[in-house]
Amino acid sequence: MAICGTTLNTISVFRWHWVPIYCRSNISPCQQQRRELRGAQRASKVKAYYGLKSPPYKLDALEPFMSRRTLERHWGDHHHDYVEGLNKQLEKNDILYGYTMNELIKVTYNNGNPLPEFNNAAQVWNHDFFWESMQPGGGKMPMLGLLKQIEKDFGSFTNFREKFTEAALTLFGSGWVWLVLKRNQKQLAVVKTSNAINPLVWDDIPIIGLDMWEHAYYLDYKNDRGEYVNVFMNHLVSWNAAAARMARAQAFVNLGEPKIPVA
Ligand SMILES: [Fe+2]
Repeated sequence: MAICGTTLNTISVFRWHWVPIYCRSNISPCQQQRRELRGAQRASKVKAYYGLKSPPYKLDALEPFMSRRTLERHWGDHHHDYVEGLNKQLEKNDILYGYTMNELIKVTYNNGNPLPEFNNAAQVWNHDFFWESMQPGGGKMPMLGLLKQIEKDFGSFTNFREKFTEAALTLFGSGWVWLVLKRNQKQLAVVKTSNAINPLVWDDIPIIGLDMWEHAYYLDYKNDRGEYVNVFMNHLVSWNAAAARMARAQAFVNLGEPKIPVA
């Protein structure tokens, strides 16, 4: 998407240096916008590329299943530190300037030989995705099309849940468990990834993500990873978010017969 000949991505990178557009009689608003953007680039070195997004609910909204204390530490410290770390790295590496976060993750994954920026970039994206994979009053069952697709690809919702839980409990060390839509196979699958890796690097489309790093559950569940996963499934997972992601994914992956009305 372009605004006055400048990509939206570039605009967003400079959001900390945004300069208001003033009316001047002899140049167009677009020329003025570009001139002031160039001026901002020259006048100040870019210090921040990505911001810390807030979860889409208050920090105590997931209680009693995920405590405010966990959110304060997990989002306020760990997620915050990934953002800060990434911005510091990008300040020193101009060649990575201007990518969207998704592009940055794929570029820095570097076909399995990750660049130093990969871990922070992926963890920023992973955590944004994780917060949005939960909601107050979440859990229970998905509905309509998503439920049908889960039943088609896993046999039943119970089978899916067992597979997701097994993946979480057999993950060695820190990492993530995902429900993804695989583009080539055109079906849902459960995958687990180590450390910061996420399914974007294989071009899969994430539908749900669960953080299995110790900092995600230790304050509330100590070492009981099984209880943490159960609570996520019963009370936290946002099937609304998953359904919206699935709807967007179907713009890229055709999961069935064309839905073209017959004249
Ligand atoms: Fe985390």
